[in-house]
Amino acid sequence: MIIVIANQKGGVGKTTTAINLSAACAMQGKNVLLIDLDPQGNSSLSFVDSEKINGSAFELFTEVNQPWENFIYQTKVKKLEIVPSKINLAKLEAKLVGDFDAIFRLRDRLEQVRSDYDLIFIDTPPTLGLITVNALVAATHVLIPIQSSYFALEGTDDLLETIEKVRSRPNPDLDLLGVLVTLFDKRTSLSKDVEAHIRNVFGEKAFKTIITRSVRLEESPAHKETIFTFSPNSSGSIEYQKLSKEVLSRV
Ligand SMILES: Nc1ncnc2c1ncn2[C@@H]1O[C@H](COP(=O)(O)OP(=O)(O)OP(=O)(O)O)[C@@H](O)[C@H]1O
Ligand SMILES: [Mg+2]
Repeated sequence: MIIVIANQKGGVGKTTTAINLSAACAMQGKNVLLIDLDPQGNSSLSFVDSEKINGSAFELFTEVNQPWENFIYQTKVKKLEIVPSKINLAKLEAKLVGDFDAIFRLRDRLEQVRSDYDLIFIDTPPTLGLITVNALVAATHVLIPIQSSYFALEGTDDLLETIEKVRSRPNPDLDLLGVLVTLFDKRTSLSKDVEAHIRNVFGEKAFKTIITRSVRLEESPAHKETIFTFSPNSSGSIEYQKLSKEVLSRV
């Protein structure tokens, strides 16, 4: 299973979900690889020190003869490995543009390792450019985090349209795994209205689990920890464990 976490809207919880969902699945005994495809490298920073990164996502795409070992790093979480990204990934689109196989690079690359893992998660940048399209072409499933705020669904049409385009040609097997309500604020009726609206639009595809807004979740990356070690009893820890069970039951 290759699950891409995508929403071209910034700050909706893609990276927070990538970090904690991949860790939660590994904690349940799955062999998990997290691929960070955001040049900001936020997922990577929670798991590897930037000065220790040599090979990263950029070279994975561009140095097709280099072995996978050059890009994969063990994290502090047992059974969770990561392909980190660095800022050089921002140059990828310019480098690949015009190559006839540009959108297939990641899929071809993953052929060699996909059977080594039960689950591969991909964190994507807040754009619908070549990097996100590569992830959609390589993936079996998409998970869309949506922030429960006003304008929550703005832009979702463009994302769904891109998913449809990818499904119509390069990757007919791509499935919508689910839509995740994030940054939910229990105190506001707006949050509840938005959640109801999302459930209305997406029906069964909306995960039962929602991720509430929590300071502990926001703080954990600065400490280079997942929520499970940083604050095991917090709402974020409980919710991401619940989400992982829901995800595993759907794949
Ligand atoms: N449930 C939450 N409660 C509190 N803060 C959160 C929660 N989820 C995410 N955040 C915080 O909100 C900010 C944006 O989250 P995150 O980086 O996960 O979003 P993103 O979609 O990956 O953003 P980008 O599009 O820039 O990559 C971060 O500072 C993160 O710590
Ligand atoms: Mg991010």
